[in-house]
Amino acid sequence: MAVRVLSVASEAAPLVKTGGLADVAGALPAALAAEGIAVTTLLPGYPAVRAALKRPRVLGQWDALLGSPARLLEGRLGDHQLLVLDAPDLFAREGGPYADAAGRDWADNWRRFAAFARAAADIACAKTAAGRFDLVHAHDWQAGLVPAYLAFLHARAVPSVMTIHNMAFQGYFPAEIFGALGLPDAAWALDGVESYGGVGFLKAGMQLADAITTVSPTYAREIRSVEFGMGLEGVVLARAGRVHGILNGIDTAQWNPARDPHLAARYTAARLAARARNKRALEQEFALEPDDGPLFIVISRLTWQKGMDLLPGALGQLVALGGRLALLGSGDAEIEAALRAAAARHPGRIAVRIGYDEPLAHRMQGGGDAILVPSRFEPCGLTQLYGLAYGCVPVVARTGGLADTVIDANPAALTAGVATGVQMNAVSPEAIALAIDRTIELYARPDVWRRIQRNGMKADFSWNASGAAYAALYRALLAERA
Ligand code: ADP
Ligand code: GLC
Repeated sequence: MAVRVLSVASEAAPLVKTGGLADVAGALPAALAAEGIAVTTLLPGYPAVRAALKRPRVLGQWDALLGSPARLLEGRLGDHQLLVLDAPDLFAREGGPYADAAGRDWADNWRRFAAFARAAADIACAKTAAGRFDLVHAHDWQAGLVPAYLAFLHARAVPSVMTIHNMAFQGYFPAEIFGALGLPDAAWALDGVESYGGVGFLKAGMQLADAITTVSPTYAREIRSVEFGMGLEGVVLARAGRVHGILNGIDTAQWNPARDPHLAARYTAARLAARARNKRALEQEFALEPDDGPLFIVISRLTWQKGMDLLPGALGQLVALGGRLALLGSGDAEIEAALRAAAARHPGRIAVRIGYDEPLAHRMQGGGDAILVPSRFEPCGLTQLYGLAYGCVPVVARTGGLADTVIDANPAALTAGVATGVQMNAVSPEAIALAIDRTIELYARPDVWRRIQRNGMKADFSWNASGAAYAALYRALLAERA
């Protein structure tokens, strides 16, 4: 019999996405089906998610889930089995999943995601018509309380895995909310949900899950340090034997240049010349001067994590060396303004699109020459993986999943013929400029450049290996309980 896993995530592509979590939660079920694991994903009933359900069956209900009436709806998206927590008080709002249209976090986020987690624990333990699950996989702080509810309200009846996609988002709330969570007093403890005098959702999950995973081996090591652990390094160290780094894969049905419907020209590693048409189309779309020089792209949240505050400082050099840049992103207002100003200083050479546009992201990967990812920290990172798959050479900081997935074109790697991109040692305007400099030199050697592109395109970043790693972890946890 297939192992039944309840994946609890606040985002899943293509229904609701603010970042890589959605890509991963959207792709895991298919990856795990190949391993004999049946994954059902529980999502909050945001408007876009509710709208995707046609006449759903009601599988359960709560009169007052942390005070709000809620129903459990059954859905499916292709082969992806969904459960949706329909709680209009909590989730039927215009704006984003975590913030209103003006970007202010919803004041009741703690209640919204505590309710979500509590429902997940009930569901896993067969309190609804969705049946019993063998294991719960909780993603990020929004699902962080699932292991806590399982531990304190359900006697750990079902084992759980807590995956950290980003340690910077911890779901930390003041102590006053504790009374409303419906947890026993015993949960207010260092080995419970208490964290630095408040309630830590992610911390609770890390403390109480049967295993902790994060999305690359290097990040799994990095979060043992103060710099990357961001206050939770102590929990990581205390549970070190239970921490695993499993690299994300990419969904090759969505991200494959040979079949991508968004591209003007589709291509393979053997037919790289066809990319030129995509590059011309991209230049037009961004009103960049057409030429044969390197076209850099950025597709990113415009935040400190992503190093985007430092990027403007490196753009003078990029332009001076004959490069051009097309950037797509949104985020901090100050960074947006600085990037717009850079574009105004260099018309035809730097173009900035503020917004979120999935098809455009595909066109950029298919037409750009190199993708810049100068992150200060990066648990895994997906845009460099899409770049590798598309022959858009990644130029990345040597951190987290970026360090694990890109082979720097240093002399040794070039001689061995294994390079797939460029790494920078530090994240500063100078280091970014130096990496750009190196990239432009490599680009000027067409044979070398093609080899780098082909190496990336031939590397396997599908979910095969990672799906097997998650399946092995689930099975080990189930065996431990048996
Ligand atoms: P993070 O989750 O930290 O933002 P990842 O690299 O893991 O970083 O994932 C980002 C995902 O969001 C990728 O699928 C990327 O293509 C997408 N993305 C980021 N910004 C935009 C944007 N402005 N428009 C379209 N897609 C975007
Ligand atoms: C987070 C991280 C990113 C990772 C994604 C999916 O958003 O910032 O590095 O790729 O989660 O795991």
